[in-house]
Amino acid sequence: MEVHNVEFLISAVRPEQYPDPIIPEIALAGRSNVGKSSFINTLINRKKLARTSSKPGKTQQLNYYQIEDLFYFVDVPGYGYARVSKTEKAKWGDMLETYFSTRENLALALLIVDFRHTPTADDIQMKEFMDYHGVPYFVIATKTDKIKKSQWNKHLSDIYKTLNLESIDQILPFSAETKEGKDEAWEIIQAVLDG
Ligand code: GTP
Ligand code: MG
Repeated sequence: MEVHNVEFLISAVRPEQYPDPIIPEIALAGRSNVGKSSFINTLINRKKLARTSSKPGKTQQLNYYQIEDLFYFVDVPGYGYARVSKTEKAKWGDMLETYFSTRENLALALLIVDFRHTPTADDIQMKEFMDYHGVPYFVIATKTDKIKKSQWNKHLSDIYKTLNLESIDQILPFSAETKEGKDEAWEIIQAVLDG
């Protein structure tokens, strides 16, 4: 898909701040610094619309982007960042719980994991959280540019097993560097929007 109109709408914490649920939305969840914001930027061909950082913990609220008049991308703050206080973690947990359990127009969650590593306990928990709340999801394994092609199957199967997925086809290899998987990601989104 060629995207022309993208608008940053709001950094939301509470439901009253969420935009009107008049179009579907797609949420990006994943560990801090895994590449969620870069994923959004890659899909919409912008270098810096969603703020990225080599420092983890950059995104702290639910950042809403409207893509044409089609859907919202929601950049969800990353988890697993050790250097935040217990209070911050609890606030973050409450915000996510509220969001994922109540948002009526949430059409898909993209669970972003690092292609290089075995998914962490936090990744597994996030996947189970989606299962629990009945949120449809797809796993995006990003930073494939860091792994030789000959090793890809090994990494895919590791992610598949560790997350206890139903099928290995629930994982899309992706790279913001090489744009690997960009077209396929749009196909997944399009299919969800087409209902
Ligand atoms: P938080 O907002 O802190 O949760 O991080 P994030 O998940 O939004 O990560 P972000 O997109 O800011 O990327 C973190 C770092 O990883 C940046 O330095 C990116 O340039 C880098 N990065 C993201 N995607 C890729 C990728 O596909 N390949 C490589 N090599 N680097 C990437
Ligand atoms: Mg981010």
